[in-house]
Amino acid sequence: MSLIPWQESYSLGISEIDSQHQKMLGIINHLADLFENDKHHNEAEIEQAIIELTEYAIYHFQTEEKYFATFNYDKAKEHIEVHDQYREKVEEWRKRYNESKDPKIFFEISEFLQNWWIWHINNTDRAYAPLFREHGVN
Ligand SMILES: [Fe+2]
Repeated sequence: MSLIPWQESYSLGISEIDSQHQKMLGIINHLADLFENDKHHNEAEIEQAIIELTEYAIYHFQTEEKYFATFNYDKAKEHIEVHDQYREKVEEWRKRYNESKDPKIFFEISEFLQNWWIWHINNTDRAYAPLFREHGVN
């Protein structure tokens, strides 16, 4: 079972961003599956998925932030702060996981990840969508 299945209502009508969001949710769902269903806990696969969880988010945020700068987005500062908080939180969690390798630690962050991405896409990101579309990002 997917933790956060993609829903059409998450679409911002910008395929570049939508496909990045879909990929991001896919990474989270995959990680949840590894922790929940993989009784043998394939450490290498989990490690790879955690690297993706942190690095793909950074790549995705950079895509958005590059457009904020190009289009002079008026809410850029607040939005980037929210990205920074996420990066810190996940990075801190990743360190804790690496120290203990305790699969249970995933449950400490899974609710945060679900709530964060759903809220972020539907509210914080949706606010820039008209500006991006106006500039021909599609
Ligand atoms: Fe964002």
